[in-house]
Amino acid sequence: MEDKKKEGRYTRIQTQLEALLPKTDDPLSRMASICAVLHHKMDHFFWTGFYLYKNDKLVVGPYQGPVACQELEKDKGVCWAALNKVAPVLVPDVHAFPGHISCDSRSKSEITLPVFNQEGKIVAIFDVDSEHLASFSEVDKHALMAIMKLIYREF
Ligand code: SME
Repeated sequence: MEDKKKEGRYTRIQTQLEALLPKTDDPLSRMASICAVLHHKMDHFFWTGFYLYKNDKLVVGPYQGPVACQELEKDKGVCWAALNKVAPVLVPDVHAFPGHISCDSRSKSEITLPVFNQEGKIVAIFDVDSEHLASFSEVDKHALMAIMKLIYREF
């Protein structure tokens, strides 16, 4: 999808989520709603979900898409890279990313972002996979970072 088209979609999604999420302050419920909205509104989202960071492990949380790995091997793959760098990671070709963890062979590109709680601690990693190469751009990164801030926002 072109960046211009993506920007329009993200703007509408942000507005929809700002109306939907205040109904509960439960972070897991908010994560579940975010997955559902994004997954069904963004054409290039093949797997959309959260890995929860608990007891120094990344375990699967709310998601939409094909069945995914339950737990990700520590310090390996794109989710752990975002956690260790404390920053989003964009991977245009997952096969060129050393240590990439493949939960589904159809995934070809990926973006991961840390999710911070009110104290600034990482509580989860948000992960989106696409069936196409180089699906994610700076537009996705900035829009998704803004969406992640809604999880702990006081409305
Ligand atoms: N590819 C991820 C693992 C999670 S699945 O894509 C759903 C990784 O390398 O961390």
